[in-house]
Amino acid sequence: VSLQGCNTFGIAARAHELVRVRSVRDVQDVLADPRLARMPKFVLGGGSNVVLTGDVHALVLKMEVPGLRLWQETERAWIVEAGAGESWHGAVAWTLAQGYPGLENLALIPGTVGAAPVQNIGAYGVELQDRFHSLVAVDLETGEPFELDAAQCAFGYRDSVFKHRAPAHDGETRGFGLAGRAVITHVRLLLRKDWKPELGYLDLERKRQESGLLQPSAQQIFDWVCEVRRAKLPDPAVVGNAGSFFKNPTVSPEQCQDIIAREPKVVHYPLPDGRVKLAAGWLIDACGWKGKRVGKAGVYDRQALVLVNRGTPEDSVTGGEVMTLARAIQTSVYERFGIRLEPEPVVV
Ligand code: EPU
Repeated sequence: VSLQGCNTFGIAARAHELVRVRSVRDVQDVLADPRLARMPKFVLGGGSNVVLTGDVHALVLKMEVPGLRLWQETERAWIVEAGAGESWHGAVAWTLAQGYPGLENLALIPGTVGAAPVQNIGAYGVELQDRFHSLVAVDLETGEPFELDAAQCAFGYRDSVFKHRAPAHDGETRGFGLAGRAVITHVRLLLRKDWKPELGYLDLERKRQESGLLQPSAQQIFDWVCEVRRAKLPDPAVVGNAGSFFKNPTVSPEQCQDIIAREPKVVHYPLPDGRVKLAAGWLIDACGWKGKRVGKAGVYDRQALVLVNRGTPEDSVTGGEVMTLARAIQTSVYERFGIRLEPEPVVV
């Protein structure tokens, strides 16, 4: 089965076999099939956060669980339940149309609802974990559905329990991981009735000033976020990409002072815990990578943090080429700033 249409990079990898999953029951049917049950499983949503570096020697579970509904209403919040296969942006637009604000800053993020908790998607000052209630997942050994709350998901910056394999070898706090062991079928989002706009991010504050609005509506912010993203980020339907390719690194205040002394313009944000976050896009840009190409892999010319497919559907970039470019970028950022950039998408 070709996976080229199933990953937003447009990489031409193949999968051994693919099953479309539309319900919890579909997962259980796979596990009840003696042949399919034995195969290793690989869960795929919208494919907007993966780099396929070769064929996938596994059974691909293509998540297509539908559904958008008000699951619960309390005095303080609406709790919406969305099927893992719904498009994330579609779900955001749906909540706003129903009159439930809160997801507007997360507009236009590619991918599916089910993938959103995996990397704890975030943009413009809001992360999924800030709007998360719980999720339903199915155990890929037993077929049993189970629920996880936010604490059990162990959300971090572009990170969750679903990005880690069990047992964890990295010596981090997380003692367990669910990557490859469970599949998310439904996500519940908690949207508070005492909504307040989140405009702390410079791009949005600028939009607000231009508009002259003091109290923009959630729908207005949604429109601004769409405009900002369309201006900066490539549309994967036009130019293949997987969003930001590296995480924004954090450094100690001393390390940051050291860099500022050499590079006064470095973009940095102090974090509540005293550490400092640096803009990976700025670091890559400063190394001269914007618009550069290595083979059919390129660095986007309006945002150096995004790697793009400069090939054609017939002759697309390979995951290997993307990773070669990524390593070259990592090396030059390390040599210039002493900082190791970590890839953000899941490299398969
Ligand atoms: N910058 C440059 N040159 C560049 C790119 C960026 O100088 O080529 C500077 C910008 O001028 C800005 C700073 O770096 O001062 C940060 O850039 P930007 O505001 O575009 O945000 P980002 O750090 O590049 C992060 C997230 C995005 C999210 C935006 C908005 C990560 C890895 N990326 O990008 O998330 O949409 O903030 O909140 O945290 C993603 O994860 O896939 C993603 C797109």
